[in-house]
Amino acid sequence: MDNPNGGMGGKTVLITGGTSGIGKASAVALAAMGADVVIVGRNPERGEAALSDIKAQSHSESVELMLADLSVQDEVRRLADEFLERHDRLDVLANNAGLVQSKRTETAGGIETTLAINHLAPFLLTNLLLNRLKENAPSRVITVSSEAQRFGNMDFDDIQSTRKYKGFPVYGMTKLANIMFTYELAERLKGTFVTANCLHPGPVSTNFGKNNGGPMALFFRAAKPFMRTPEQGADTLIWLASSSDVNGVSGEYFSDRKEIEAKEMAYDPAARLRLWEISEELTGLKVAA
Ligand SMILES: NC(=O)c1ccc[n+]([C@@H]2O[C@H](COP(=O)([O-])OP(=O)(O)OC[C@H]3O[C@@H](n4cnc5c(N)ncnc54)[C@H](OP(=O)(O)O)[C@@H]3O)[C@@H](O)[C@H]2O)c1
Repeated sequence: MDNPNGGMGGKTVLITGGTSGIGKASAVALAAMGADVVIVGRNPERGEAALSDIKAQSHSESVELMLADLSVQDEVRRLADEFLERHDRLDVLANNAGLVQSKRTETAGGIETTLAINHLAPFLLTNLLLNRLKENAPSRVITVSSEAQRFGNMDFDDIQSTRKYKGFPVYGMTKLANIMFTYELAERLKGTFVTANCLHPGPVSTNFGKNNGGPMALFFRAAKPFMRTPEQGADTLIWLASSSDVNGVSGEYFSDRKEIEAKEMAYDPAARLRLWEISEELTGLKVAA
């Protein structure tokens, strides 16, 4: 890139889940490259603490915190409204916030929590910010998926897992949804110069899984020595956000900066359309034709 700071000067990047792990490490790197970075957090104290860390580590003051609990759709809508009010450009939207839950819970809006945060929030936020991304094109939508997608089964008749709930397969289903959303979005964005890609960050030692007690927490504790650091885990996200290597590349799933294949269902246009329509229903979103 021509710009010594990585070519992100003058670009605005919005990162959900910027208070911890992969999102926070990405925010540091992109702010250090000169981007104006906006992180989304749900907790004011954790958000402010992350904000000062990111500023200190990136040596940049161009970092801002916006608060929203992404499990609440009204907060996703408020976040989008406030972002659009405060920022006249958006170059990179990184849908990164996510979690796994060993026990089934529902959000205030009565939606299974993993589905709400991991899939419906990025679906809604992206669609609400799409016009701004188009105005600034070329621009990029990046969604953090996972190879857990391989263990996910998408049961359209029970997408909220009311009949059967197991934490890891449900998480895998939402990560498959991230890929299906990305592929469908990329198709819909053809000709707009807005790209949509997703990624697997590898196994990364973060706060991920720590919200769960029992065997899941034990698993993450035992796996820690074999996992990547957040900085290593953020590499592909940072590359997708900043590199000219992926100019114009859209509708791909990456790991370690290489395209990888998703589970078969992700390549089924009818399944992707069904997921899109269910997501529109569950978010009350009507996309203008
Ligand atoms: N770690 C791995 O091995 C791994 C592997 C594959 C994929 N991933 C994916 O990587 C992404 C980032 O995870 P991570 O490993 O960096 O985990 P993490 O350290 O737990 O970070 C998750 C982030 O999401 C935020 N978040 C969770 N629920 C939220 C909500 N309701 N509203 C707003 N923000 C919320 C968290 O905010 P708080 O700080 O408030 O909790 C945190 O900033 C996730 O999508 C995950 O599925 C991770």
